[in-house]
Amino acid sequence: MSKKSLLKEKKKNKKKDKKNKKDKSKDLQTFDKYHYYLRSVQSPAADVVFLRDTYKEIRKKPAKTLCEDFCGTFSISCEWTKLDKQHHAIGVDLDPEPLAYGKAHHLSQLNEEQTKRMKIIEGNVLDESLPKADIVSASNFSYYIFKQRQQLLDYFKNAKKRCKKDGLFIIDSFGGPDCMEAIEEETDYGDFKYFWDEDHFDPVTNYAQFYIHFKRKGEKKREKVFSYDWRMWSIPELRDLMLDAGFKNVHIYWEGEDENGEGNGEFKRVTEGEEVRAWVAYLVGEA
Ligand SMILES: C[S@@+](CC[C@H](N)C(=O)[O-])C[C@H]1O[C@@H](n2cnc3c(N)ncnc32)[C@H](O)[C@@H]1O
Repeated sequence: MSKKSLLKEKKKNKKKDKKNKKDKSKDLQTFDKYHYYLRSVQSPAADVVFLRDTYKEIRKKPAKTLCEDFCGTFSISCEWTKLDKQHHAIGVDLDPEPLAYGKAHHLSQLNEEQTKRMKIIEGNVLDESLPKADIVSASNFSYYIFKQRQQLLDYFKNAKKRCKKDGLFIIDSFGGPDCMEAIEEETDYGDFKYFWDEDHFDPVTNYAQFYIHFKRKGEKKREKVFSYDWRMWSIPELRDLMLDAGFKNVHIYWEGEDENGEGNGEFKRVTEGEEVRAWVAYLVGEA
């Protein structure tokens, strides 16, 4: 291809990108992507119960402050604050868009007293000056964005520094053979369908590209509403990195199964996992 036609192609692609962005932001006004994300991906009320009970189980006393790293629309922080009058929550995210959504849709649901116990920070989880907490937590695998060992180690080291005395660092992880191949899963929620699409997986690097698509009943499928350029980290890699970052002990909490062999949302501390096609587990580091 000549330099001239390359330039022409580049210009055309730029125009296309601009149009796609414009279409997407127009779509945002009529399609509330965070609403569908909450319904299909998140379970903040159950998550905070796990965080509360796990802290109590390990530390034999209640946790007060939670820092929700990569908080997005900070639904977990809001639920934490609602769970107990002693609870304080800090949410940290780089992106002002989900933070603004969280303020409009979740924070606005709290009463004045609960709102006072919330602190939302537009910032980087790698920032050492973030406030300390009893529990520092990252959910929905957000830290998979750190693809290099050193990056993830730096994050874990900072998470440890940001734990108060007797603090815990709690993160979730997922894996299994089904997560290591291009595959698209569809879940029907009645009024809409949710698609978890693993577009590709590279076994040499463990890098994987995921997308979330949605389809509302009677409407066209909305492609790539969320996208995730991640590295799939294994539990032993994560455990070793947490120990290298200075955590004293690392516990694994494995999800139980319902009668259909599906995850039941209940997590128990284990020393051995089970050979299944796909799993979700928590890692808990004692600071
Ligand atoms: C997969 S979303 C997760 C949102 C939410 N935690 C949840 O449970 O669904 C990942 C979020 O991490 C944020 N993020 C990525 N890198 C970050 C960083 N270094 N510091 C803070 N937030 C970051 C993104 O802006 C995005 O909102």
